[in-house]
Amino acid sequence: MRTSAAIESLPRSGIREIMELAWKVPDAIHLEVGEPNFPTPHHICEAAAEAAAAGFTKYTPNAGIEPLREVLADKVRLRNGIDATPEHIIVTAGAVAGLYSALVALVDPGSEVLLGDPSWPNYGLMMRLAGVTPVHFPLRPSQALVPRAADIEPLITDRTRAIILNSPTNPSGAITPAEVLHELLELARAYDLWVLSDEVYDEMWFDAPPASMARFDTDGRVLTFFSFSKTYAMTGWRVGYLVAPAPVVNPILKTQEPITSCVNAPAQKAAIAAITGPQDCVGEMRGSYQERRDLVMSLLDARGVPYVRPSGAFYLMADISAAGMSDVEFCRRLVIDKAVAVVPGTTFGPNSGAFARISLATATEPLLEGVGRLAGAVAEWGS
Ligand SMILES: Cc1ncc(COP(=O)(O)O)c(C=O)c1O
Repeated sequence: MRTSAAIESLPRSGIREIMELAWKVPDAIHLEVGEPNFPTPHHICEAAAEAAAAGFTKYTPNAGIEPLREVLADKVRLRNGIDATPEHIIVTAGAVAGLYSALVALVDPGSEVLLGDPSWPNYGLMMRLAGVTPVHFPLRPSQALVPRAADIEPLITDRTRAIILNSPTNPSGAITPAEVLHELLELARAYDLWVLSDEVYDEMWFDAPPASMARFDTDGRVLTFFSFSKTYAMTGWRVGYLVAPAPVVNPILKTQEPITSCVNAPAQKAAIAAITGPQDCVGEMRGSYQERRDLVMSLLDARGVPYVRPSGAFYLMADISAAGMSDVEFCRRLVIDKAVAVVPGTTFGPNSGAFARISLATATEPLLEGVGRLAGAVAEWGS
């Protein structure tokens, strides 16, 4: 008996490989996980508990419950500047399920979809599952890892159907400025491409808030993906949402039925509490990530390790090339010899091997200890 070719060719996640290696090392410092180290705020948990106790435990509409879609439409209008009504919103099992549904609904197997190198590895994995070929465009350190139309245009073929953008981005925290979003949208228009704009870190910015590309969309080609996972420390609740142009809402909903059908009902009530409740928890988490970013940057500056300055999200890409070995070897040795787990750059794209990703979503003390050991390893192994 055989499993499918798509599954057989699916690579393992590089993040998981490092994590599993680190689990075998006692007292390892975990800087590989992209998950807030904060609990979900109490009032959000309470709302779910109350909903479950009141019997709100049945299937819901595919697109999510109406009161949630209403508050989400208000949220994206007010906070992201996207002109949406509840009919444009689909609640999904995390942003990841929304991205997969959109990919399956909009792109035929055998097509090509453009994505950054480096970018979140799940994009490539979901494309392979959908029979779509990922085509990486370079994100250059000299451009602060911000995409440039001039780097993308030469890669467009008659099989290219979409481009995935992510700002603030995992793994570097880069934010794409509004003028670049305009440039990229022009490119998408010129070649009639869908744009899947992943904005799950929309509330995690340090210097200035990011712009949403959908604000500038005049012909219905931009879909935007959001999540409760990072903003409200709700990774395990599995609630995300997307904002889509009206003609593609039903095609995407058709894919929800056989894949997830709907999102967990009490979690949808928790999501309403998250959006409509006090927002100080978001500001506090953002403040902690910013403080840690600043401390990590000072430490790396003092130790002479180059890095890409993060403007948002909660990651930092450190340049470990001075260690004189491949990123994978560096990260494996760092776990085994120094008990620190970070993710090799090539997990995020074939040409990102000069880097390792450090997650800032870890308490400050172990974070600084881990980054100190990383800097020490670059100096020691590179000498
Ligand atoms: C860029 C990016 N998009 C989407 C997701 C998935 O978020 P969710 O938990 O909502 O599926 C992640 C999670 O790490 C991410 O880094």
